[in-house]
Amino acid sequence: MKEAMNPPVLPSEPHVMQTYGRLPIALSHGQGCWVWDTNGRRYLDGLGGIAVNTVGHAHPRLVPALQEQIAKLIHTSNYYHVPLQEELAAKLCEISGLTNVFFCNSGLEANEAALKIARKFGHDRGNTRPELMVFDGAFHGRSIATLSATANPKIHAGFGPLVEGFVRVPLNDLPAVEAALRAHPNITGIFLETIQGEGGVNPARVEFLQGLRRICDQKDILLMLDEVQCGIGRTGKWFAHQWADIQPDVMPLAKGLGSGVPVGAVVCGPRAAKVLQAGNHGTTFGGNPLAMRAGVETLKIMVEDDLLANAAKVGGELKAALAAGFAGLAGIVEVRGQGLMLGIELDRPAGALLGQAAEAGLLISVTADRVIRLVPALILSSEEAAQIAAILVPLVKAFVAQPKP
Ligand SMILES: Cc1ncc(COP(=O)(O)O)c(C=O)c1O
Repeated sequence: MKEAMNPPVLPSEPHVMQTYGRLPIALSHGQGCWVWDTNGRRYLDGLGGIAVNTVGHAHPRLVPALQEQIAKLIHTSNYYHVPLQEELAAKLCEISGLTNVFFCNSGLEANEAALKIARKFGHDRGNTRPELMVFDGAFHGRSIATLSATANPKIHAGFGPLVEGFVRVPLNDLPAVEAALRAHPNITGIFLETIQGEGGVNPARVEFLQGLRRICDQKDILLMLDEVQCGIGRTGKWFAHQWADIQPDVMPLAKGLGSGVPVGAVVCGPRAAKVLQAGNHGTTFGGNPLAMRAGVETLKIMVEDDLLANAAKVGGELKAALAAGFAGLAGIVEVRGQGLMLGIELDRPAGALLGQAAEAGLLISVTADRVIRLVPALILSSEEAAQIAAILVPLVKAFVAQPKP
């Protein structure tokens, strides 16, 4: 029987800027793929902090490692060597095949650094008005430059004038890419999410990625793959582009890299790695010992516990369970995604499902208005995947059985 949701006992928030429409839930602690609210109610966490809690909550090896690091050194400064930076950078280069890393604190910061690299790559070649190709449906962050690269007009609204120099084309359309390059000879890079997250879990197709790689090589421009959301093992490989057997020149990362400790990184290959020189870019917090330790320990746990294989296997099971549950159901447009980055597109706005799912004990997100997104921790078990499907399928069935608004 469904347990009724406790009346919310929530602090009012007179001093917090209300930039989010929040659910009436305050979480107090977590364990693995489960979280508890301040009323003691338990939820299965299908959201993972929006693709952040790679190794789940309160991981028994991550927590003591971070405790030890905090007791030793949280922050120094980039004026000094930070040995853990080299350790994490070397690991990121090993798993990506790229060569150098700049560390920062978030996804938008990683993308800002990528945008600066693309512009300076142009300037270094005598192109003083460099432009960048971006895509319909893209989301790259909320700073002025990254929101300008983002496609959604709702995210632009109220923040003009936008940063210029972005040329937008449809995703998965190579002829459109080629036409835009002919029309804009100043383009110095092609910038896209390997799988769009906020845009509704829309994968760039394998042939499209391979075509972009070929074009970037021919034209001597940069292929820049934003793997902030889809990277770090989420799809079952370290990076989503590895399914297409290509390498980017520039790859921004964040979200899952620190398992919740803010870490961003831009991983570059040889064509981009030397573009930024001393004095060109910087950050106070980026690459501090605590953040680096979180990254090092996250990747270590992922290897020790074979979380890439787990993401592929359990993600496949979850996708199959959802596809079977929704088979033939009018109102379901598509179940898509790879590994533990899944989207269920409905034929109508799905925001109301957030509260209904929480009431049924499951945390999810809804993105691009109509797409239910599941991005749980990569430690999700087969049983937990089955539980997600068992909660979500009847809920969505009842939802789409109602008349369309
Ligand atoms: C693909 C992608 N890029 C960039 C960002 C921005 O990251 P952050 O919120 O850490 O600034 C996000 C966040 O959702 C994202 O999904």
